[in-house]
Amino acid sequence: MSRMFRKVILGETVVREFSTVGINDVVGEKVYLQAGDLLIDVTENQWMLGLEPLTFGIWVESNEYKEALGQNTDYTIYFRRTAPEHPRHAGRNALALARLNFFDRIDDEKGTLFLLQVKSSRIFHINSLKARLIYRKFYKKPEVSFEKLKAVATAYSYPRRVRVISFKQGNDYNYIFPMDLLGDIRQSGRYLLGMRHSNQVLTKIMDVKKIVVSEAPASYKQVIYQLGRNHSAAPPSLDQLPFPVITTRQFGFPAPDWVESYKEVTIHKTVDLGSHMLLYGEWTEDAVLKSPTPRLHHIHFLHFLNQKSRKGAYPIV
Ligand SMILES: Cc1cc2nc3c(=O)[nH]c(=O)nc-3n(C[C@H](O)[C@H](O)[C@H](O)COP(=O)(O)O)c2cc1C
Repeated sequence: MSRMFRKVILGETVVREFSTVGINDVVGEKVYLQAGDLLIDVTENQWMLGLEPLTFGIWVESNEYKEALGQNTDYTIYFRRTAPEHPRHAGRNALALARLNFFDRIDDEKGTLFLLQVKSSRIFHINSLKARLIYRKFYKKPEVSFEKLKAVATAYSYPRRVRVISFKQGNDYNYIFPMDLLGDIRQSGRYLLGMRHSNQVLTKIMDVKKIVVSEAPASYKQVIYQLGRNHSAAPPSLDQLPFPVITTRQFGFPAPDWVESYKEVTIHKTVDLGSHMLLYGEWTEDAVLKSPTPRLHHIHFLHFLNQKSRKGAYPIV
C-alpha cells in the first residue's frame, strides 16, 4: 500500500502493531466485567497476562463478586472510553468487547484472582471494513488470524504499562529486561507477571523465586526497548550496560539508576497459561527514589487511530 494511500485512508504514514504513549497516573479508559446479571467496574483490577490464548487476570476482594464470578463460567469484558449510562448498556459505544471462559483461579487471603481466556472478541475502533483492509494489508501472517488481531486490539484498548524487570542469580548472572504483561495489585501487595516460556530467564526465576519490578520514565523508551533485545541466555555484564545501576535494598538486584521506584517481589505460585507462565507474588519493599514522570504504555494502533479521530490521543513517545 503506498505511503499516499496510508496517509489518505488512515491519516498515518506508518502502520504498527502498538503505539507507545506517555501517561501520568491517570488512564482515561474504563473496563467492565459482566458475569450473569452483575456488571463490575474492573478498570483498576484487570491485566493481560498471557497471549496464546489471550488471558486476563481479574482481581476481586468482596465475597459478593467472588461468588458471582465463581458461579459463572462465561463472562464478557467491555473496554470503554467512559462509564456506561446504565449497567445494561455496557456494550453501547464500547471500544471493544470479548467473551471470556473461566480458566483457573487463585484464592488468597486478600482476594481472588480469576484467570479468564478470550473465546471471541469484537472491536469498534474504526469502521469494520477498514479494519479488515488494514488486517489484510499489514497484520495478516500465518500465526496472526483476524480473530487474533481482534483479541490483541481488545486487550490493548486499555494502556498496558511497560516496566523494567531485574533479576540476579549468583554473582555472574544479572539480567534487566522490559515487560508489559504485568499486574500491580497495589492495595493488596500482590504482583502478577506473564512471562513467555521461551524466555530463558523464566526457569531461573522459578528457582530463585525473587524478582524486582521498577517504574521507569517514558523518556527512556529507547534504552528500555534496547534491553528487550538482549538475549536472556547470555545477558550483557553490568559494566557493558549503557547506564550505571543501583542495588536494591533487600534482594541486592541491579536496577538502572534512572528508575523512579521499585518493588521487590517474592514469587509464591505459578500457573501455566499456554504461551506464558503466570508468576504470582507478593511485594515486600516499595522503594520510591524519584518523583514520577509520564510512564511508557502500549496501546493498540487501532485504538490510537480511534483516539486520533476524536482528537483525544495520548502523547506519542
Ligand atoms: C516493550 C517490551 C515489553 C515486553 N513484555 C514482555 C512480557 O510481558 N513478557 C515476556 O515474557 N516478555 C516480554 N518482552 C520480551 C522480553 O523483554 C525478552 O524476551 C527478554 O528480554 C528476553 O530476551 P530473549 O527472549 O531474547 O531471551 C517484552 C519486550 C519489550 C521490548
